[in-house]
Amino acid sequence: MSSTRDLTTTTALVTGAGRGFGRATAIALAEAGARVVGVARDRAQLEEVRARIGDAFVPVAADAADPVVAGQLLDRYRPCTLVLNAGASPLTRPLQHQTWQTFSRNWEVDVQHVFNWTREALLLPLSPGSVVITFSSGAALAGSPLSGGYAGAKATIRFLTAYAAGESERGRLGIRLVSVLPGLTPATGLGAAGVAAYAARQGVDVATFLERRGPAITAEGVGRAVVDLATGDGHDRDAYLITPDGLAPVPA
Ligand SMILES: NC(=O)c1ccc[n+]([C@@H]2O[C@H](COP(=O)([O-])OP(=O)(O)OC[C@H]3O[C@@H](n4cnc5c(N)ncnc54)[C@H](OP(=O)(O)O)[C@@H]3O)[C@@H](O)[C@H]2O)c1
Repeated sequence: MSSTRDLTTTTALVTGAGRGFGRATAIALAEAGARVVGVARDRAQLEEVRARIGDAFVPVAADAADPVVAGQLLDRYRPCTLVLNAGASPLTRPLQHQTWQTFSRNWEVDVQHVFNWTREALLLPLSPGSVVITFSSGAALAGSPLSGGYAGAKATIRFLTAYAAGESERGRLGIRLVSVLPGLTPATGLGAAGVAAYAARQGVDVATFLERRGPAITAEGVGRAVVDLATGDGHDRDAYLITPDGLAPVPA
């Protein structure tokens, strides 16, 4: 992929940067030359990321689902790359063992945060040429029967991102908005809990479950895919799968 957008000396902002995909994305963006503002609630994890990246990483301990946080941080940093990755770990139980509160957790955190930040990005607006990348999930296509409302929430993030891309185009804002759909992976805490639950449901151990599924994505691979999207030419779709081989079109 030829790179046409140089991230050197630009600012990126990543929600959920304390661990998992967000941490790997922050590292990849910093290695591509960006100053990275990382948002998560766990200050110690953010400090660990700063120790890894150095002064190019600006930790902000805050609740990414809080609309005031979205408005304040976009006013302050005006990132030209905004990665909306933060997400709650769903309670991995069958439907009838969910309550409405557990079922709707990913709506309250994941969807609400994408809604708040995307809205602020359009209203500000971010500078022409900015890129907003939101985290949906492969579950948005396949469902997630042991994860409450997770799959529906992630499908809504994909829709919401496409709606916002349409508004950017109508308003000639020049902001590119795209969602990514990573596959389930044991590489993060959130993914490992899902893998364990689905393996148990199939009555197999985790190793057997993973072997049946084939290669899984890594956190570093997700970081690379986000940098490809942020810098690469020719990514004109509004959503991409993240596979072990990188970005791929979402099947029609
Ligand atoms: N892992 C997978 O298999 C998989 C597959 C498809 C999609 N995804 C999606 O990819 C994204 C990242 O997942 P992950 O696996 O990396 O999860 P993870 O390891 O649990 O990391 C989630 C990150 O989000 C942060 N976060 C959660 N709620 C937050 C809030 N209210 N405000 C600020 N930060 C918040 C967490 O930090 P604090 O708790 O410190 O706030 C943490 O840094 C999620 O949107 C997830 O749904 C994951």
